[in-house]
Amino acid sequence: MAAAPELGVRVWRGGASGQFREYAVPRRESQTVLDVVMHIQREIDATLAYRYACRVGMCGSCAMMVNGVARWTCRTHVDAVAREGRLEVAPLRNLPVLRDLATDLSVFFDRWERALGRFRGTRTRRDDFERVAPQSPARRAADAGIECIGCGVCHASCDVVAQNPDYLGPAALNRAWTLLNDERDAARAERLRAVAGDAGCHACHTQMGCTERCPKRIAPTASIAGLKRELARAWWKGEL
Ligand code: SF4
Ligand code: SF4
Ligand code: FES
Repeated sequence: MAAAPELGVRVWRGGASGQFREYAVPRRESQTVLDVVMHIQREIDATLAYRYACRVGMCGSCAMMVNGVARWTCRTHVDAVAREGRLEVAPLRNLPVLRDLATDLSVFFDRWERALGRFRGTRTRRDDFERVAPQSPARRAADAGIECIGCGVCHASCDVVAQNPDYLGPAALNRAWTLLNDERDAARAERLRAVAGDAGCHACHTQMGCTERCPKRIAPTASIAGLKRELARAWWKGEL
């Protein structure tokens, strides 16, 4: 089927109480949603605010709502998501809107802080490298979630995040799970306490929205289930 010569694009403009504005963008072969947004900003309205950096699916900064679904826009082809030659592009759900397509990601990364999303080692630069067996179950569990690019797609796709503003959310909990499985990490009990409670892993309803949408094919739902298991085990053993 020949591509339509123009795409009708509705783009969110303004802050939380902004509105959609309509643009006509020429269709091109292999065009991504980010290409469309960049065309609008470069050729039609230079004031459009949005974020991107790598354009190759590495940095995680280009995520937006595209026809109501959270996606990494640099790797999303228009052909795959346009409906009858139309696109609607909006800021990521579940985050405060700064302006246009740019959201306040401090809300997202604050949750990583609360989930102790930073490695805490014990060795100094003078110590030898610690060797972790590549095939050990813990290493494999850590590796399964380590490629997270912090794009926020899972966060925007989670209904529990939408209903419970305190919930740590799938990305922060996935990060906590990778660290919990890192044999070099020295904050196990503290980390487990950080992901317990009403705002932690037990708030997850296992609806899988995060896992279905993650562009890196990570399964935060499985990571969260792992945290629940580890917490139960730790309580049973009296570790907490
Ligand atoms: S888990 Fe996936 S969707 Fe969530 S922030 Fe990481 S890469 Fe993005
Ligand atoms: S599985 Fe849990 S974290 Fe993932 S979208 Fe569903 S409720 Fe949110
Ligand atoms: S621009 Fe870096 S992931 Fe899309």
